[in-house]
Amino acid sequence: MNNQLIKQSEEILSEEDLLASLCNVVSLCYNQTKDINWLGIYLYKNGELVLGPFQGKVACTHIKIGNGVCGNAYQKKMLLNVGNVHDFAGHIACDSASNSELVVPLIYDNKIYGVLDIDSPFINRFSYDDEETFTQISLLISKRLASH
Ligand code: SME
Repeated sequence: MNNQLIKQSEEILSEEDLLASLCNVVSLCYNQTKDINWLGIYLYKNGELVLGPFQGKVACTHIKIGNGVCGNAYQKKMLLNVGNVHDFAGHIACDSASNSELVVPLIYDNKIYGVLDIDSPFINRFSYDDEETFTQISLLISKRLASH
């Protein structure tokens, strides 16, 4: 696990303003993670996922629950580590450079707020260690969203 990234995320999320905290934690994680081309948050709003703070190319703004990797991870309340997005039925291609994707639901105290989505141009980019690191960071983000 990347304990340093988790610790820095925790510090950044202690900033008083919610949006400022989320923007900075996304920037930190994007810049400290090798071989990725997109990292951001989709938040649940009015029955769908809506684009939140992110780093990377312009992305789709609305994702229906159950659609794509993000909508599936949200619906199943389950981390999805997709080694090759082209093999994932219904994958939503925002950036054609993306080949693998890690999506972690944002859950705290049994309430789900959205998902953290990370894309890579490499096949099978994300390891079990990445899953653990981003599960911890997602928990910190969710806790911050819960305290808002
Ligand atoms: N690929 C995602 C959509 C979001 S973009 O990757 C930023 C999906 O299938 O849900």
